[in-house]
Amino acid sequence: MSTTKLFEPFQLKSLNLKNRIVMAPMTRSFSPNGVPTNAVAAYYSKRAASDVGLILSEGTVIDRVSSSNDPNIPHFYGESALAGWQQVIKSVQAARGSMGPQIWHMGIMENHHSGWVPAAPFEGPSDLARPGFSNGRAMSEKDIEDTIRAFGSAAADAKRLGFDCVEIHGAHGYLIDQFFWEATNNRTDIYGGKTLSERSRFAIEVIKEVRKQVGEHFTIILRLSQWKGSDYSYKHAKTPAEMEAWLQPLADAGVDIFHCSQRRFWEAEFEESDLNFAGWAKKLTGKATITVGSVGLSGEFLAAFRGESSNPSSLDELIRRLDRGDFDLVAVGRALLADPLWVTKIRDNRSDELKGFTREALVELI
Ligand SMILES: Cc1cc2nc3c(=O)[nH]c(=O)nc-3n(C[C@H](O)[C@H](O)[C@H](O)COP(=O)(O)O)c2cc1C
Repeated sequence: MSTTKLFEPFQLKSLNLKNRIVMAPMTRSFSPNGVPTNAVAAYYSKRAASDVGLILSEGTVIDRVSSSNDPNIPHFYGESALAGWQQVIKSVQAARGSMGPQIWHMGIMENHHSGWVPAAPFEGPSDLARPGFSNGRAMSEKDIEDTIRAFGSAAADAKRLGFDCVEIHGAHGYLIDQFFWEATNNRTDIYGGKTLSERSRFAIEVIKEVRKQVGEHFTIILRLSQWKGSDYSYKHAKTPAEMEAWLQPLADAGVDIFHCSQRRFWEAEFEESDLNFAGWAKKLTGKATITVGSVGLSGEFLAAFRGESSNPSSLDELIRRLDRGDFDLVAVGRALLADPLWVTKIRDNRSDELKGFTREALVELI
């Protein structure tokens, strides 16, 4: 199948991309004390030089004492970390790439395996990371206001440093998703409620604050998932109507692109058609969407963490959906983590040179 559509340019507000391929955000934990190093800049600029259309950074945490459970995950606040990010975006742009940081607050977490803990307890809508697992405290309304402001100032810094867009991490069971989820949001104030729409209030206020800080023309991406690490089959929206009621207010608050996280992009979201999450999000909101999940690989990423290897696989089904107009952009995670040259190999039809993914690829930045 022809990959022509994958290599068409894409333009939306501040984004001017040479093709439709996005590097998915991937935590690497190579930023000691939260400061991205020259090796981190080299890792991203290598992908930019090899024609990745848009690079989304690894999750980078906002200015809250307990926004992270790992001291080697980069910060997106403070002079040294922002100077590190300045280097990253300079080198990516020197290699003619486009990039946005993924801004993140982890919410209630398990402690890091090293034993490191932040200077304050983890914080979330409640003390729960998932049903039956408590490890922190419920945020006060003042904590919530300060956190919304911290998302806003991270986004403002992204724009000031010259990034092309910003992605808000609202997926995978972290803080914003903990507010969406009834199992972790049992609040009785305005941030809780029986319906998903009521529990979306925190996300909506974050998006509005980010929009206020970056202005109308700067592209805002929101990453969402139905699944969470503690429940792969969970769905916030069980029908298209529920999905519309969830996504439309987020779109109205200022989202330009929905980044719809699935473990396998070819899985249908609802029974009535073969559309995936990104397909439904685009159909229901009219917004641009990014699909993701096992693109070009035989196995999915959570199994990869458990040690399962993945081999290169055909892009035909992806291309069929892209050509049909289901989504606008395609994010690629592990294939690009393991091989900076993945995009050029796809473009030049060098499929015999594609590499698979094994857990060893996580050990260093290549
Ligand atoms: C090492 C690793 C780290 C990840 N870290 C993040 C992250 O920081 N933020 C995020 O939204 N997703 C994260 N993910 C999920 C990826 O963005 C992506 O959705 C997932 O790997 C599926 O894409 P793939 O099958 O192409 O790898 C991570 C995945 C991997 C493999």
